[in-house]
Amino acid sequence: MKKSSKNRLTIQQQALFPKDTLFDKIARAVCRSQTLPRKELYEAWEVAKRIRRQFRGGRIVDLACGHGLVSHILLLLDDTSPNALAVDTHIPKNAMALSQTLIKTWPRLKDRIFFRQMPLEQTQISSQDIVVSVHACGTLTDAVIEKALSARAKLAVLPCCHDLAACDTGGLEGWMDGPLAVDATRAFRLTCKDYTVMTKKIPGEITPKNRLLMAYPNDG
Ligand SMILES: C[S@@+](CC[C@H](N)C(=O)[O-])C[C@H]1O[C@@H](n2cnc3c(N)ncnc32)[C@H](O)[C@@H]1O
Repeated sequence: MKKSSKNRLTIQQQALFPKDTLFDKIARAVCRSQTLPRKELYEAWEVAKRIRRQFRGGRIVDLACGHGLVSHILLLLDDTSPNALAVDTHIPKNAMALSQTLIKTWPRLKDRIFFRQMPLEQTQISSQDIVVSVHACGTLTDAVIEKALSARAKLAVLPCCHDLAACDTGGLEGWMDGPLAVDATRAFRLTCKDYTVMTKKIPGEITPKNRLLMAYPNDG
């Protein structure tokens, strides 16, 4: 099964996920909702799993959330997070259908995930939050990082679409490829702001944009 497939999962494909594991249960719910490509299921799962190995509890603030699957999985993986705020300038129509299916499967998610259609720049963040963002394009990832820094919140981003003209490469592009220079510079900026940085990857077979940058404030 190609995990990077952009084909939408369908009800019939529930059979591909027969196990009694949390992942397979989530996958079957996503299939029933008929809303998402296979790639996005795997991306959201792999990111959420790695975030929860580092960060427990806290309100989830999912910026540039798209369909918001990451928020749902983060609450399923750790019920001590009270709720999640999922923010995007264009919440896709299928986000609500997906959310309804997940809530029907796990009623404990009801009234705990709040979608807000607005620019992430307007989001109020607190130091107790975990700010997450999957594939916020180009400088949008930098805006997410600035939001987390402004409140000294925990942070997890999976950057994409690196814009070498607009993003800071830190002068490192003579030694490494441009997108890596941008992400290395982001990590260094967080270190300079007294954050502990953790660099991980999700499997490259799902997406080549697979660098996961996580950080928490040393004074938090
Ligand atoms: C590549 S998509 C990623 C969506 C989702 N996180 C995912 O993994 O599928 C980037 C998202 O950023 C959103 N976006 C762009 N500018 C934004 C802004 N200023 N504030 C909030 N969301 C924004 C777009 O609407 C889009 O849904």
